[in-house]
Amino acid sequence: MIAVGLMSGTSLDGIDAALVEITPRDRGYALDLVRFETYPYDDDLLRALRSALPPQSGSVAVVAALHHALGQAFARAAGAIASGRRIDYVASHGQTVWHDGARHVTLQLGDPFAVRDGVCATVCYDFRSADCAAGGHGAPLVPYVDALLFSDALEDRIAINLGGIANLSFLPKDDPGAVTAFDTGPGNMLMDAFVRERSGGADTMDRDGALAATGRIDAELLAAMLGDDYFALTPPKSTGRERFGSQFFGRYGERLSRLSIEDGLATLAELSAASIADAVSKAGFAPHRAILSGGGTHNAHLVARLAARLSPARVENSDAMGIPPDAKEAMAFAVLGYETLRGRAANVPRATGAVSSVPLGAIAPYRLRDLLENVERECASS
Ligand SMILES: Nc1ncnc2c1ncn2[C@@H]1O[C@H](COP(=O)(O)OP(=O)(O)O)[C@@H](O)[C@H]1O
Ligand SMILES: [Mg+2]
Repeated sequence: MIAVGLMSGTSLDGIDAALVEITPRDRGYALDLVRFETYPYDDDLLRALRSALPPQSGSVAVVAALHHALGQAFARAAGAIASGRRIDYVASHGQTVWHDGARHVTLQLGDPFAVRDGVCATVCYDFRSADCAAGGHGAPLVPYVDALLFSDALEDRIAINLGGIANLSFLPKDDPGAVTAFDTGPGNMLMDAFVRERSGGADTMDRDGALAATGRIDAELLAAMLGDDYFALTPPKSTGRERFGSQFFGRYGERLSRLSIEDGLATLAELSAASIADAVSKAGFAPHRAILSGGGTHNAHLVARLAARLSPARVENSDAMGIPPDAKEAMAFAVLGYETLRGRAANVPRATGAVSSVPLGAIAPYRLRDLLENVERECASS
């Protein structure tokens, strides 16, 4: 089948759109990326989002308007990536505007019916609510796909996604069903915010980690930040902008403000690398290989620091496994969308804390009966 996966993460850098060819296999899926693009949010939408997200608060009217505007933006992204090709289904994650996993509260916006009408295809969406209803955090959901794509019979592996928030999946060799996963804390989010603040909004990231690479770590501040409560929580746990946005800067901003931009970024990059590596060692897991994805893979300094701290694990980008690192999450939601259409459970209770394994996702139907018949036929012959 031809599917579109749409993902827009906490970084607010835009909409990741993956056009994939997906075929069920004996165990898992064959997944081929046909085309991938990130469509940046336009300035008006970005401004509206930023002014509604924590620590701001939006009225119900603002939330409804965002739901509509995001739906239009997702529809444009889906249309652009499809570029005239017939699509069997779209899996749309939506833009998270609030996430409090411990309370089973999470909200992704982006009207799925705008997407359906834009590309004339069934849209699977709202992947997190079912897990929350089952007592889970609703996150992380990608570990299910990590296990399908990356687990190996011969070596222990971890998959690490360096998005705004960083998360990791443990993929033990002897038992691929034993995947566990959680959000480790900040990925790029704090670095992005620090750069934005220092540049008065002119820059949005430490491109390639060039600034951090010339900075010196403030060891005392790093130790203080690593003392944040989140890092000591035992999984399941998930986090977002609510914790690692401006509140975090409220706590440490004064000390960061005394550092040069280079030293501040070196310290924040080290916080990301250390919190990930500490989470691995605290779990008593000694992976042979770490498979990286997400925009943070472009930050050479962050990747080098992470590799140093994860040594002797072999650290490589997911393209070594045939999955381009920027496209991984959008591709993963295409897989979760297929599972929605099959009605198969696709959360990992060990990762989310849900009491049971449940089918995820809602469906905005377009010729749904035909689509489900195709799904059934494909699965029967896999
Ligand atoms: N060339 C680059 N150098 C450094 N960081 C980068 C680069 N490209 C992307 N990033 C980082 O990756 C982030 C986007 O990553 P992404 O995986 O899309 O995260 P999210 O899922 O939170 O949207 C950007 O905000 C930025 O911090
Ligand atoms: Mg992104």
